[in-house]
Amino acid sequence: MLTIKTSDLSPVQLQSYLNAAVAPRPVCFASTIDKAGNINLSPFSYFNVFSVNPPVCVFSPSRRVKDNTTKHTLENLKEVPECVINIVNYDMVHQVSLSSVEYAKGVNEFIKSGLTMLPSDLVKPPRVAESPVQFECVVKDIIHLGHSAGAGNLVIAEIKLMHISEAVLDSEGKIDQQKIDHVARLGGDWYCRVTPDNLFEVAKPNKNMGIGVDAIPFAIRNSKILTGNDLGQLGNVEALPNDNEIDAYAQSQEIKELLDATIGDSQTREIQLHLKAKNLLDEGKVYEAWMVLLLV
Ligand SMILES: Cc1cc2nc3c(=O)[nH]c(=O)nc-3n(C[C@H](O)[C@H](O)[C@H](O)COP(=O)(O)O)c2cc1C
Repeated sequence: MLTIKTSDLSPVQLQSYLNAAVAPRPVCFASTIDKAGNINLSPFSYFNVFSVNPPVCVFSPSRRVKDNTTKHTLENLKEVPECVINIVNYDMVHQVSLSSVEYAKGVNEFIKSGLTMLPSDLVKPPRVAESPVQFECVVKDIIHLGHSAGAGNLVIAEIKLMHISEAVLDSEGKIDQQKIDHVARLGGDWYCRVTPDNLFEVAKPNKNMGIGVDAIPFAIRNSKILTGNDLGQLGNVEALPNDNEIDAYAQSQEIKELLDATIGDSQTREIQLHLKAKNLLDEGKVYEAWMVLLLV
């Protein structure tokens, strides 16, 4: 394992490790305005939502690594503490990237990137019409994390109004994760796209108390076949099947055949049963997997 003292690295080296490790990051496409009315649009992937009540997002226009100057977005927010955070989807990713070019102060990146300004209802900066979700925000605070090149400036923005395109809603009026087509930033020039085929669900942990991986019998916990993800699912049950349930399950044709074929060969039996349990876990049949494992 490579172990690095952060104080031994330059800001450029640090940025490379941190951006590749803390990934993927959602992208805040922030529109701001200065006192004179000049509009600015820039992406920031040091961004997330940090509070629901009040609804608060935080993003960080850092001091430029190359010359320790501050970004126009930050300067604008000090003059007019309002912004629109526009959520980025795949259809706009190249225009988003183009808008991150270091254009001179006063240059409107909506125009440079060919995106459409849509007037906001509550705040002065316009929204990005192409964006599927737009948050009109009031900036509550800006926290400077340092004065050296690369230092972050946390912009704490309270969301006052949300605009959501009908195109990304499901029949209940909620955002459909399969429709929104998010992109996110990783290290270097890498991005990722959230498509329906790479989405998966993880059931929330048991509302009551899952038994935990530590309560799984040693032979199962140390299986050469079951993975950490498998153990995580097994540890999420509230109680194990009882003997009657297991006996009943053992009467099924498939299990009977498996047990008969491995009489006197406990090692093969364990492997076969663990493989069967793994298949059941892949299908989300956790309780059944437990019955198979407890047959050993
Ligand atoms: C997808 C993406 C994410 C970015 N994230 C950040 C970030 O989190 N913080 C930052 O300071 N710069 C970030 N940048 C670079 C800024 O967008 C860039 O410096 C921009 O020119 C700043 O514009 P401004 O000076 O008009 O505010 C990012 C660029 C891209 C393309």
